[in-house]
Amino acid sequence: MPCTVVVCGFFGDTGKGKVNSYLALKDRTAVSVRAGVGPNAGHSVVYEGKTYKMRMLPSAFVYNKCRLFLGPGVLINPEILLQEIQLAKSEERVGVDPQCAIIESKHIEADKAGHLAEKIKTTGSGTGPCNAERALRMVKLAYDIPELERFLADVPLEVNVAISEGKNVLIEGTQGTYLSLYHGTYPYCTSKDVTASAACSDVGVGPTKVSDVIIVFKSYTTRVGAGPLTNELSWEEAQKRGWAEIATVTGRRRRASPFNYELARRAIILNGATQAALTKIDVLFPECKGVKSYEGLSHEASKFIEKVEKEIKLPVTLIGTGPHALEIVDRREEFRRFEPKRFCLS
Ligand code: GTP
Ligand code: IMP
Ligand code: MG
Repeated sequence: MPCTVVVCGFFGDTGKGKVNSYLALKDRTAVSVRAGVGPNAGHSVVYEGKTYKMRMLPSAFVYNKCRLFLGPGVLINPEILLQEIQLAKSEERVGVDPQCAIIESKHIEADKAGHLAEKIKTTGSGTGPCNAERALRMVKLAYDIPELERFLADVPLEVNVAISEGKNVLIEGTQGTYLSLYHGTYPYCTSKDVTASAACSDVGVGPTKVSDVIIVFKSYTTRVGAGPLTNELSWEEAQKRGWAEIATVTGRRRRASPFNYELARRAIILNGATQAALTKIDVLFPECKGVKSYEGLSHEASKFIEKVEKEIKLPVTLIGTGPHALEIVDRREEFRRFEPKRFCLS
């Protein structure tokens, strides 16, 4: 399947970094292109003994033959991007669209004060004020920045050519469906739409070119910042269950609640998802840590996965069993062969 979009079905932080890095390694992805808002995202990638917290580069960087692009819809903090390019030793394979908008210190300052910081509790990375200036058509673009000149590339063209040549292309969405400016819990949301359609638009790929939309859920729900979270647990209860997480970008506590089937079903519709990934099954069922085959999962874990599939009416084809990029159960092949009989997609 040449063009896959990966998005989150909850409030972000469901493990897209891990899923994207796995897909790149396993499918030998030729081109990965980052969509989404900008450096407000924090993707954790664990590979070859190192943990990376990437905010700008596609998580597919771990596959060293993959070309890494940033679509024109993405906001760039040049300092963070240049650091990550160095860290990933990826100078030769990075391409930045000239129309990416640039986050400046004034945007970061505005994001760390007043309404955005106090009411919305944003990440403070400057993305909201930068998108606001972009809408006013006053923002600086990547082609204005000399340090980025050597990386400039016509990203929509590169990506579409790769698709037309039948190469494996990955579009990496960020944040999560319920942080979308349109479909999320307004005003407690991010500064643009972040569903699969928006991810395609961010990188200049038309909807007819997409073969699969993988929606990522975590085995429980978390959210950082303000806004509603149904059945929210106390921090003490989250700690007791092993669900107490700290945010990658801001270091804040992630609020937690049990898996929310209703939100999952709606997110599948909003994203036109064709398959689901379910991460952190090892947190719910520690005996599943590092398991790589479905048969190796415990009875309780497979019962939970079956319940999720029945409730959301979508096959769970990727199951996360640990933070490492390769700690995953991959049932995509089985799904391709038997899906029409086994699942009744709504
Ligand atoms: P955003 O773009 O910010 O939404 O982030 P993300 O979806 O890439 O997720 P993030 O990396 O912020 O958070 C997920 C956390 O779970 C990270 O610490 C990952 O290393 C970890 N993780 C991902 N999958 C698994 C899994 O299957 N098991 C365990 N134990 N940890 C996992
Ligand atoms: P902003 O995107 O920084 O404007 O923040 C708006 C809201 O989205 C806040 O509640 C943030 O915590 C949340 N948010 C933004 N990006 C992410 C992310 O990548 N993961 C989780 N929450 C995010
Ligand atoms: Mg994150």
